[in-house]
Amino acid sequence: MIFTVAIDGPAAAGKGTISRAVAARFGFAYLDTGLLYRAVGAKGGDPVEAARTLSEADLARDDLRTLEAGQAASRVATIPEVREALVDFQRRFARRDGGAVLDGRDIGTVICPEAEVKLYVTASAQVRAHRRWLEVGGDEAQVLAEVMERDKRDADRAVSPLKAAADAVVIDTSDMGISEAVATAIDIVRARIGG
Ligand code: CDP
Ligand code: CDP
Repeated sequence: MIFTVAIDGPAAAGKGTISRAVAARFGFAYLDTGLLYRAVGAKGGDPVEAARTLSEADLARDDLRTLEAGQAASRVATIPEVREALVDFQRRFARRDGGAVLDGRDIGTVICPEAEVKLYVTASAQVRAHRRWLEVGGDEAQVLAEVMERDKRDADRAVSPLKAAADAVVIDTSDMGISEAVATAIDIVRARIGG
């Protein structure tokens, strides 16, 4: 079965949490596309070359989840040749047999406009920064500033900017716990598979 669930949205909105739960529930494969950009940013050197030669080992580094790696990712993510180098891998993953969930910024708009389900997961910047701060610690005001800076860079860039696809279902998780957000997404996918 070919079935793609595209999940986009700003930093720390809950995309990964929802993606993993949807993938587990329906037996789909899951790709965190942010990890590709984080790995390119962390590799150093020429980012276009880094994107073209990205390997499993690059994706397995354990320093990709930091705030710095997020900032570096959003900088290299503005480069059109970097994005182009990652397109084929993502599209093949999306259309693999057995179903796939991909989360990122441009999955429903650019990578997989034909996705069977498109979700745009969001929450207020304050709520998202608080969630990220619980994970990484440090100064919460600084985490909020970094989240807002990254969102602005992602939304303002010329290529594949962060935005909801016209046919995406928007899930605002500002006032939702994890179980409610996950249940909302699973209901949408189940309805689409059934109907
Ligand atoms: O993938 P993304 O950066 O959009 O977010 P995430 O890694 O799924 O979620 C960021 C943090 O928020 C995690 O620690 C989640 O457990 C938490 N979270 C939450 O508190 N409430 C939600 N409704 C969703 C996620
Ligand atoms: O987990 P979080 O939402 O904080 O970030 P991420 O999904 O790991 O993405 C890190 C950065 O990679 C984003 O801020 C974007 O600049 C970039 N990215 C992108 O441009 N396109 C994607 N499909 C995924 C991530």
